[in-house]
Amino acid sequence: MNWQPFEVPTLGQGWYGTPAVDVLNARGDHVVDLRVTGHRILPGKKGLPGLPCVYTEEAGEAWSLEVDLADSLTGLGVTMQYSVFEKTGAVARSMRVTNAGQEPLTLRGAFPASVPIWGSDYDVLHLKGAWARERTLVRTPLGQGRYEIGSQRGASGHEENPFIALCGKETCENSGEVWGISFVYSGSFLAGASTDNAGNARLYMGLNPQVFSWHLEPGESFQTPETVLVHSSQGLNGMSRIYHELYRTRLARGAWRDRPRPVLINNWEGTYFDFDEDKLFQIAREGKELGIELFVMDDGWFGQRNSDNCSLGDWKANPDKLPRGLSGLSERIHGLGMLFGIWMEPEMISPDSDLYRAHPDWCLHVEGRERTEERNQLILDLSRKEVRVFITEAVSSVLRESRADYLKWDMNRNMTEYFSPALPPERRMETQHRYMLGLYEVMDEITRSFPQVLFESCSGGGGRFDPGLLYYMPQAWTSDNTDAVSRLWIQYGTSLVYPPSAMGAHVSAVPNHQCHRTTTMKMRGDVALCGGGFGFELDVTSLTEEEKQQARSVIARAKELRSLVHQGTFYRLLSPQGARYAAWQFLRENEALLCVYRILSEPSLPPLRVRMTGLDPDAVYRDETGKLYSGAVLMYMGFSVGISGDFGSCVMRFEKV
Ligand code: GLA
Repeated sequence: MNWQPFEVPTLGQGWYGTPAVDVLNARGDHVVDLRVTGHRILPGKKGLPGLPCVYTEEAGEAWSLEVDLADSLTGLGVTMQYSVFEKTGAVARSMRVTNAGQEPLTLRGAFPASVPIWGSDYDVLHLKGAWARERTLVRTPLGQGRYEIGSQRGASGHEENPFIALCGKETCENSGEVWGISFVYSGSFLAGASTDNAGNARLYMGLNPQVFSWHLEPGESFQTPETVLVHSSQGLNGMSRIYHELYRTRLARGAWRDRPRPVLINNWEGTYFDFDEDKLFQIAREGKELGIELFVMDDGWFGQRNSDNCSLGDWKANPDKLPRGLSGLSERIHGLGMLFGIWMEPEMISPDSDLYRAHPDWCLHVEGRERTEERNQLILDLSRKEVRVFITEAVSSVLRESRADYLKWDMNRNMTEYFSPALPPERRMETQHRYMLGLYEVMDEITRSFPQVLFESCSGGGGRFDPGLLYYMPQAWTSDNTDAVSRLWIQYGTSLVYPPSAMGAHVSAVPNHQCHRTTTMKMRGDVALCGGGFGFELDVTSLTEEEKQQARSVIARAKELRSLVHQGTFYRLLSPQGARYAAWQFLRENEALLCVYRILSEPSLPPLRVRMTGLDPDAVYRDETGKLYSGAVLMYMGFSVGISGDFGSCVMRFEKV
């Protein structure tokens, strides 16, 4: 039976793989025998209550199928929910588990996607990382066994992204088959690829059973988060194009979804905690002079926060730094004709805070055990209503008082003692998922109440760069690593699933604070301008006149190209893996942008020719120097790039004439 291509595999009757649904019944066994009892075909796609999900704007964009299954002995019901997007063939897939029996049930495993794939001679793809080294593309043979990735951290995490794919051995960027599964969720997950004894593969993705179970009383239901399945026979770029379009236009929402984003300056790497109103104002004024449009005040403005050891939860401006409060600074920034933005870490609480002194029970913890701190902080228990009310009110009042146009929503540690003492013991394993539901509820309410605000999510850099948060916030801080060379790897890997419009990317000072590498302002600019959330993150008041001039031209260039970067179709051309070059391209109607980066120089190499893609072979294209090329030449012979030395770049726009 293990080789059967089950759609919803369960345990106890001959299946020995990872079950899609694992339920312990009141008799103490977990045999589940699901039989189809009905189905419905519906136009469009329904939302998932309380959860992020892809959506349609017109009914014809997708069709949905719901299939009901039931286990007659226990009364367990499962409804499989599928929506197929007409244009791309992407399939959103989730499930609802219902207890229609007389006794309680315990849901111990819920994998909304479990997909049999014929054959097993495949490679597995996933995005592995660490802090400051997020989402490096891993490609490895599937082998004959089980390959699993996941997170138990209560966050999607830096280490693994909620994405897995299988592809053919021959699959490359522009040809060959690939099957991807992406999870529209920001918490712990488990994904895997396995082979059975008949030589066929299976891909699965769902909630991580190590840190999840859900108690279902008779009549109760559980809705899983959604997975998005994409198949392409046009290589990895083909798969990425489908995810990019879907996530940019039918996952992200709100006023900023389709708008190129303002060029920002963030003071974090410029000042860290050491600033006051005048210092920030000077940075903003200088930034304005360089062409920057949005000033963002990062960590350190509230409570007694002069280092990372206190005050999270005390969201009142520190009068020593901001004597005229948030509104005083914001007025001055707005007075410059700039937008004003602010940083918060709303889910956190410092033990050294007034909030903790007033509510020591508001954090996730296990009674009688030490509360493990990371970065000197604990995590608020968002499964509790009163905590959600507090956070919603705290963020709203900061946004109201500061009249902020932008909010950076940070989250700087993973969960430990991830249990809520407020829940009864049989429900404590629900804490991590209840936290995510609570977070989504709070984010939904705040983003709806402040529809004009541009929200950027962040988690120690890119520790929660996932589709779940993109539903609420259309961009995310890609990584705390702002080094231009490291960013080639990070942005390249991130682009496997996520559109450039979602990537925050900044030009920072050299030597770089994370890598200690020195690159030119042009190289730093040419990498960062490929992220939709482009900006600067350094003390611009300390730049020399020459550097200011360079910054002006980087900013002007980013503005000129931002709508193409935001809306253009993105293609990866050359992987940085070889450590010599990286290249990618944006394409929209009559224009293309070729971005080539040289990493390490070597003697006696032939001149580099980069072959562009997706152009009209019969059309003529003009580059920015006025030179003309046929599309066929650019695609089949390539554009000849002359970059000398280490860490150089060439960003060239082509127009169809
Ligand atoms: C995290 C973020 C940084 C910065 C700091 C502030 O590390 O990723 O960008 O906001 O927190 O403490």
